[in-house]
Amino acid sequence: MTTTSDSTRRDPAARPPGPGFGTVGSLRRIRDRQLTGFLDDLRADHPRMTYVRLGDEYAYLLFEPDLARSLFAEHGRDTTKGRGLERAREILGQGLLTSEGAFHREQRRLVQPAFHGDRISAYAEIMRDEAVRTSAKWADGRRVLMAEEMGALTLRIVGRSLFGSQLSEADIHTVSDAVNTLFGSFSRLLMPWAGVVGRLPTRRNRRLFAARAGLDALVYRLISEHRGAGDNGDLLSMLLLARDSGGEPMPDVQIRDEVLTVLLAGHETTAMALTWTWLLLARNPAAAARLNAEVDAAPDELGALPYTRAVVAESMRIFPPAWIIGRRAAADLVVDGWTVPAGTLITTSPWVLHRDDRWWGDGQAFRPERWLTADGTFDEAAPGQPRGAYFPFGAGRRVCIGESFAWTEAVLALATLARHWAPEMLPETSAEVRPAITLRPADRTPMILRRRGVAPST
Ligand code: HEM
Repeated sequence: MTTTSDSTRRDPAARPPGPGFGTVGSLRRIRDRQLTGFLDDLRADHPRMTYVRLGDEYAYLLFEPDLARSLFAEHGRDTTKGRGLERAREILGQGLLTSEGAFHREQRRLVQPAFHGDRISAYAEIMRDEAVRTSAKWADGRRVLMAEEMGALTLRIVGRSLFGSQLSEADIHTVSDAVNTLFGSFSRLLMPWAGVVGRLPTRRNRRLFAARAGLDALVYRLISEHRGAGDNGDLLSMLLLARDSGGEPMPDVQIRDEVLTVLLAGHETTAMALTWTWLLLARNPAAAARLNAEVDAAPDELGALPYTRAVVAESMRIFPPAWIIGRRAAADLVVDGWTVPAGTLITTSPWVLHRDDRWWGDGQAFRPERWLTADGTFDEAAPGQPRGAYFPFGAGRRVCIGESFAWTEAVLALATLARHWAPEMLPETSAEVRPAITLRPADRTPMILRRRGVAPST
C-alpha cells in the first residue's frame, strides 16, 4: 500500500490517488456500469477515498465510515448540498431539502413540531388505515407494479397525515407521472452541461416543465383548500399560521416549496424502501416465513415487531433509497489530511458503504437477523458495524427530518399488508437498479399478488 506524506497531502494542488481518466472516461463508464457500478469499481481500486473529474469540477468520493461521518459532522457547517440537490432546486425551490444556512435552520425549526413523537403516534393510525385500504383493494392473482402500489400508498399517507388531504386517484397519477419524469434523469443532472441543456426547448425538457406545472397546480390547490380552515394540527396548517419575527406570514411561494419538498421527499423514498423489501422477501422465503409468523402473532404495535423492523433495516442496507449523498465544500477543508479546495464536490454513498464486506459480514446477503440482539430485540448496533457504515437517513445537521415517520410507516405498512399478502416474483422481475435521485428498480418491480393461505392455481 502506498502512503503519501503529510506535507504532500497539505499541498492544495495535491489530490488523493485517482482513477487516471477524465470526464469522458467517467461518462463512458457510467453509461456501461450505471452510477452504482461506477462507484463500486472506484471503491475496488481506491478503498478509502478517490476523486473523479466532471467537466471543470472535481468530485471527491469517500468510501470509509470515519470519512463519511466527518463529512456530515465535522464538516457539516462548512459544506452545502452537492450537485444533485443544487439542480433539484429548479423544482423544489428553497424547501427544506435544498435550502441552506440560516434560512434553512429557521425553516427546519418551524417544520420540526410536525415530526415530534406525539404527532408520529397520531399518524400511525393513518398509516395502518391506509395500509388496510390498500389490502382491501388488492386481488389475489393480480399482476401489479409494486413500485406504483407502494408509491400510491405512501403518497396517500403523507397527504392525509401532513396535509390533511385525501388525495384522489388523479392526484396520485399527477405526482407519480411527475416523479417518473423528474427522478428518471439524475445522471443527466450531474453532468457539467446540465444547467444549459436543461433550459433548451427539447421534447424532454417540455415534459419536465409540464411535470413541474402539474405538481405546482396540485400543491397550490392543497394550499388554497387549507387556507382559512384554521389549525388542523398538521404541517400545512403550521406553515400557513407561521409568522416571522416581524409578524409577516410565510410567502405562498415558500409554502409551495416546503409542501412540494415534503410531498416528494416524504413518499418516494419510503415507497422505494417498501418495494425493495417485497422483492427481497419474495427472494428469501425463510425470512418471509419468519416475518409472517411475527405479524400473525403480534399486536399492531411497533415495539412488538422487531423482526419486521429488522427486515426494513436490512432492505435499506442493501437497497438504500437515498443511495448517494453529496456536498460542496464552502471553504477549504482538510479531509483525511488532504486539502480539499472550496467549491469541490464531496460525495459518499450508502450504496457502497452499506454493502462493503469490510464492515458487514457477507455484505451482499439479505440477513435481517443481523439486526437482532441475542434476546431478539432490534438494535441498530447489533450487526457490529463501525459507526458511519449505515446511514440510510444521512447524518448530522441535515439528517432526514422524516426518519421516525418513515420507520413507523414502513414497519406498520409492511406488517399490515404481510398479514394477508405474500407477493410473488414473476419470471421477468429483476433486482436491477436504476440509480436516480432515489434508488429505483429498473422494471418498477412487477409482482403477482398472492393472498396468504390461498394455494396458487396451477
Ligand atoms: C425510507 C425513507 C426515507 C429515506 C431513506 C430518507 C432519506 C433522507 C436522507 C438521506 C436525507 C438527507 C439528504 C442529505 O443529507 O443531503 C433526507 C432529508 C430529508 N428528508 Fe428524508 N428520507 C426518508 C423519508 C422521509 C419522509 C417520510 C419525509 C417526510 C415526511 C422526509 C423528508 C425529508 C426532508 C424534508 C429532508 C431534508 C431535511 C433537512 O435538510 O433539513 N424523508 N432524507
